[in-house]
Amino acid sequence: MAIVAPSFLSANFLQLQEECDKINTSEAEWYHLDVMDGSFVPNISFGIPVIAALRKATKKVLDVHLMIVEPEKYIAAFADAGANVLTVHLEASVHLHRTIQQIKQHGMKAGVALNPHTPVSLLQDVITDLDLVCLMSVNPGFGGQKFIERTYQKVRDLKAMIVNSGSNCLIEIDGGVTLDNAKKLTDAGADVLVAGNTVFASPDPLETIRLLRLA
Ligand code: DX5
Ligand code: ZN
Repeated sequence: MAIVAPSFLSANFLQLQEECDKINTSEAEWYHLDVMDGSFVPNISFGIPVIAALRKATKKVLDVHLMIVEPEKYIAAFADAGANVLTVHLEASVHLHRTIQQIKQHGMKAGVALNPHTPVSLLQDVITDLDLVCLMSVNPGFGGQKFIERTYQKVRDLKAMIVNSGSNCLIEIDGGVTLDNAKKLTDAGADVLVAGNTVFASPDPLETIRLLRLA
């Protein structure tokens, strides 16, 4: 059974209330919220005020994925906005250990995301401090991209590191998740499946979420 995290990057922004109402009635446990700054990634999405508004529209877990430089500057702001899980990119964090501790001190679960080129071995010295590792299975910045096949091996390597270290951190997969690859990902060790296009472009988002969860 996977945790499903619909990515609101693919939602209809003119009908955010309706999109929230729909996801709230679904079996998805998390909202995945992508924050982009036009610097770390070549795109700009939404930020703190939108997340604070979404907080009022749901009781589900707000899983905030920061694709921004210097993420440590905004930890308190995202905590105040109501984020439950705050994920920073390893590639954007000079003092990653400190940033992880600060996220937890603000009462949130701490996540680290890895770009497709970043080996999971770089997490060895912080794995027991983490609540979540987000493996990017596309290059971050856009929804609807093609899944990178190398990800399966990264999930297996990360799962082995987690088991060997005694960490209870979750493995999240972000990018190109579909009904065709979901089961292979959970078999490899994935716990959380982010799905933007697969959910919001589906003719029946609730049924698609139900099927992803069963993966
Ligand atoms: C990409 C974002 C993803 C994106 C996934 O940078 O981090 O969360 O919304 O979209 P899909 O599921 O359409 O690949
Ligand atoms: Zn994301």
